[in-house]
Parts: sequence; structure tokens; C-alpha cells
Amino acid sequence: MSEIYNIIDKKKLDVVNNSIEKAHGLPNECYTSKDYTLIERKKLFEDKWIVVGVASSIPEIGDVKPIDILGMPILILRNKQNEIKVFHNVCSHRGVKLVSKSGKINSLIRCPYHSWSYSLDGELKATPHIGGMNKHSADGFDKSKNNLKEIRSYIWLDLIMININQNEMSFEEYIKPLSDRWEKFWPIKDRELIHHSNDFGYLQLKTIAKVIIFHGFIQD
Ligand code: FES
Repeated sequence: MSEIYNIIDKKKLDVVNNSIEKAHGLPNECYTSKDYTLIERKKLFEDKWIVVGVASSIPEIGDVKPIDILGMPILILRNKQNEIKVFHNVCSHRGVKLVSKSGKINSLIRCPYHSWSYSLDGELKATPHIGGMNKHSADGFDKSKNNLKEIRSYIWLDLIMININQNEMSFEEYIKPLSDRWEKFWPIKDRELIHHSNDFGYLQLKTIAKVIIFHGFIQD
């Protein structure tokens, strides 16, 4: 919090927490300050679990989907074990973006620059000509230290959750207060009834209720 007080006078923020008749909204700096935006970006989007997609929209082995989160290129894919994995969409060689559009990759993710290639588990498999013409290995170069950088992920209610900075508690622990609160209305055993509409913009239950997640509200 102290870094925020370097940008916004503490008194202006304290007023926000007053009782309703004395409270004010957030100070202008929360909407106009670049430094504040950087703090918000780290604390909300990088340090916390955030939703980045829908697992069933990446249904088949080899499906890949690149996305950008606040300028960070991220790659979501389904590996050969049928698991969703999330990586930084950045080549370990010179940092080129690996995948620029959604599609299917049958075997290796190949960098468009010098063709370093990675498995769907992010392992670096090929480094063409790294040791000189037609020499595809180099003394002292350890492929296993140059795999893609995986981002911690968890599939919850078919939503792909990630924690970019890998510093948050486990997702199960993180979601537990909400999950417990829901239990009496929507028991865990019933949550597997959830399935997606075809446009993946909202979730539908096999009941009369429809829950819209992405826009942050619930609709009956
Ligand atoms: S930048 Fe990817 S192989 Fe060189």
C-alpha cells in the first residue's frame, strides 16, 4: 500500500472507506496516473489468479490460442495428454513471439525466426544450426534450461485461470471462500453439470438458470 501513497495522498484514499454519507469515490489519480496503473496491473493482473479463457474453446489436442494480457503475449494450448497448458508466447532464443494466430499444431511449435522448436509441453526439442552449419547442438548448451516458460494454470468450471507471477496461493485455496459460499446454492457435486454455449461468452447450466461470468454479473 505504501507505494500507492507515494502517488496518491493517503487522506484521499481513506475517505473512500468512510461510511456511505461521508465517503467519496476513488480519487482522480486512480484513473489518470500511469504509475498507479502499473501498480494495479501488478497487484491485480500479475499477482492474482485471473481468467484468460475457456478450456472447451480449445477442445482438441494440438489446438493453440495466443492472447495478449496487458501487452504480455501468452499461449494457451492443449497438449498430448489432453491437458490445457499456458506458456509465455516467447521464444527462449531471442524472444520472438512464437504463435501469432489460433490453430492446430500437430507436433512442434516452431519459432518463425531461427526455427527453434518446442513440444506441446514446452520442452525445447530442436535448435537448428546452433553449433554452426548443420550442427544442431552446441557444447555446453543445455536444451532443458531453455524450455518455454510455463505459467501456473488451473481449470475451474471450464475457465482457464492463471497466476502470471506464480506467487499466489494455490487456486483451490484462493477460491475456497467463494466456493464455500456457493455450496448451499450450487453444491460442488452439481457443478459438473455446467457446459458452454457455442460462443463461449457465457456458461449455461442444465437447469433454468444461466450464469454469465465474463461480464461479472449473474442473470437468472
Ligand atoms: S528467436 Fe526463436 S529461434 Fe531465434
